Amino acid sequence: MSAMIILDVIMAGRIPQNFIDDLLTRTDIIDVIDSYVPLRKAGRNHQALCPFHDEKTPSFTVSQEKQFYHCFGCSANGTAITFLMDYKGMDFVEAIEELASRAGVEVPREGGISHKDSGSAELYELMEMVVRYFCRQLREHAEAHRAIDYLKGRGISGELAAEFELGFAPLGWDNLLKDLGNSNASQERLARTGMILRKETGGYYDRFRDRIIFPIRDQRGRAIGFGGRVLDEGTPKYLNSPETPIFHKGRELYGLYQARRKLKDLDHLYIVEGYMDVLALAQYGIQNAVATLGTAVTPEHLDRLFKVCPQLIFCFDGDAAGQNAAWRALEISLPLLRDGRQSYFMFMPEGDDPDSYVRKYGSKQFEDTSGYVPLSDYLLNTLRQDTDQKTREGRALLVEKTIPYLSRLPAGALRELLLKDIASYSELSVKDLKQLLQDKQQTQQKQQRNIHRSALKQGDSTLIGKAIRLLLHHPSIAELDKTSAELTNINVPGIEFLQELLAFIISHPDTTCAGILEHWRNSKFERRLNELASMESPLTEKHEIEAELQGIISKIKQTHQKKQRLARSQTISNLEELRNLYTADHTPDHKEQ
Ligand code: GTP
Ligand code: MN
Repeated sequence: MSAMIILDVIMAGRIPQNFIDDLLTRTDIIDVIDSYVPLRKAGRNHQALCPFHDEKTPSFTVSQEKQFYHCFGCSANGTAITFLMDYKGMDFVEAIEELASRAGVEVPREGGISHKDSGSAELYELMEMVVRYFCRQLREHAEAHRAIDYLKGRGISGELAAEFELGFAPLGWDNLLKDLGNSNASQERLARTGMILRKETGGYYDRFRDRIIFPIRDQRGRAIGFGGRVLDEGTPKYLNSPETPIFHKGRELYGLYQARRKLKDLDHLYIVEGYMDVLALAQYGIQNAVATLGTAVTPEHLDRLFKVCPQLIFCFDGDAAGQNAAWRALEISLPLLRDGRQSYFMFMPEGDDPDSYVRKYGSKQFEDTSGYVPLSDYLLNTLRQDTDQKTREGRALLVEKTIPYLSRLPAGALRELLLKDIASYSELSVKDLKQLLQDKQQTQQKQQRNIHRSALKQGDSTLIGKAIRLLLHHPSIAELDKTSAELTNINVPGIEFLQELLAFIISHPDTTCAGILEHWRNSKFERRLNELASMESPLTEKHEIEAELQGIISKIKQTHQKKQRLARSQTISNLEELRNLYTADHTPDHKEQ
């Protein structure tokens, strides 16, 4: 598929934000969640044992009014859409489709670009042009043979280079700049994508120079960033795009888009460290490999991968750094290992990486599962290594060490089997171990709840924060246009967002807390809004709520006025000072007398 066609599909496939806003008013989160996790009414809310962590007493709370769920134990929270994504592993579009089919409506697609995303849409479009630019240089540039020779020398075929859209950034400071940055506006956009950098002396220069270029696409196929490798021994060996509004290294994986496009059913995925590892494996017919972008594996990475594939195989170097990285991957995997999901580890011989390994030993040996260490073996073997099981003390130590890990593993078959093994090593009964595990989990839950509470208290300390929380919990407050008018010309930090929120509620009078959260999904406000939505609402009566908002608004106004008075008196005292100076200057004689 050419880059242009990909872009068309994305643009044409966009679901109008208005449709999502409306869909949420037709959805009841109670029905949605109850069809997967039976809910019980408890006071104003509904409750259940949390489906996202293991617990004995229900902390999972669903509010019909807010159309929002929140777990006090593990802090899982979100809207009906979030629930379908996190519980059922759907992606955003699938979740929308599920809710639409429940509501009996069709999901419309629009040709244009929605207003909300226009900023990002522009950047995606530009990145697509950059991909084409680098690809063209690899075909046409006078020096391209150096890059082609390099790739050939590393065993990359022309077809593979085309499939991964490899490119070439020629030597020079302004090649890309000249080609794609011929107006101030286009330069500003290129700078926002990190493709060009500002010079101290003014103007810009290209980030990627004399490098092989690896375009990075997100799961939906949009170009979001680039990696670039030197052709020789220069440094840095690899250079990546910086974090931008559309590129987040801690979330994205190189090769995931290509793997999902090639293979309909991903039953296992290899996680490797480098771009060249992904390419070498693909060259050997192993198309299901992805690489982090020069960072360690994060929970977001694994969360994303487990949603599309039940079995992950981590490939690490056999050295100490590889061992450390593997243990970290194990720790991050644990809470995600619901029944049906598996993690394995594969340690390369010293001095090899997946690239050199597959070239030396072939794909058959690489894919030979007898070399994979299951996570549970890796965990137990590592923890048993330095405990002496011949003594009671040693066995107690083993139990002490393993319980914290088990407590992070969701309840399920794997945890039961591990408990059995530890019971036999430690000579304790499974029942005793379970008791220890439960005690541990209860203390952990209590700690988490406390951390959560104090974080929330802090988050709500500003007046604007209070106003936003109130509106988020009770968007049906009357006469908001008056409130909005009262706040014009008021200048305090955060006021722009408060005004935007008011405008949204005024134009969507049926919206709920969830409707607001969905409207700002994937924006920089998402996280903060989720935090505010998770707080409990102490007020229930309409008049109380309205009075509370009025109170907050007049306090905001007072604060603003006080600041203005202060600023004015500052100017006055400056004037007085000036006048004094002036007088002093012109009447030196008087002063000296
Ligand atoms: P080759 O030498 O091309 O085979 O690379 P490799 O993939 O074997 O490289 P290595 O194991 O050194 O690095 C693995 C990954 O770490 C790379 O793919 C990059 O994402 C990242 N990386 C390596 N070196 C650098 C560097 O100098 N800077 C940055 N930002 N990332 C690097
Ligand atoms: Mn390598």
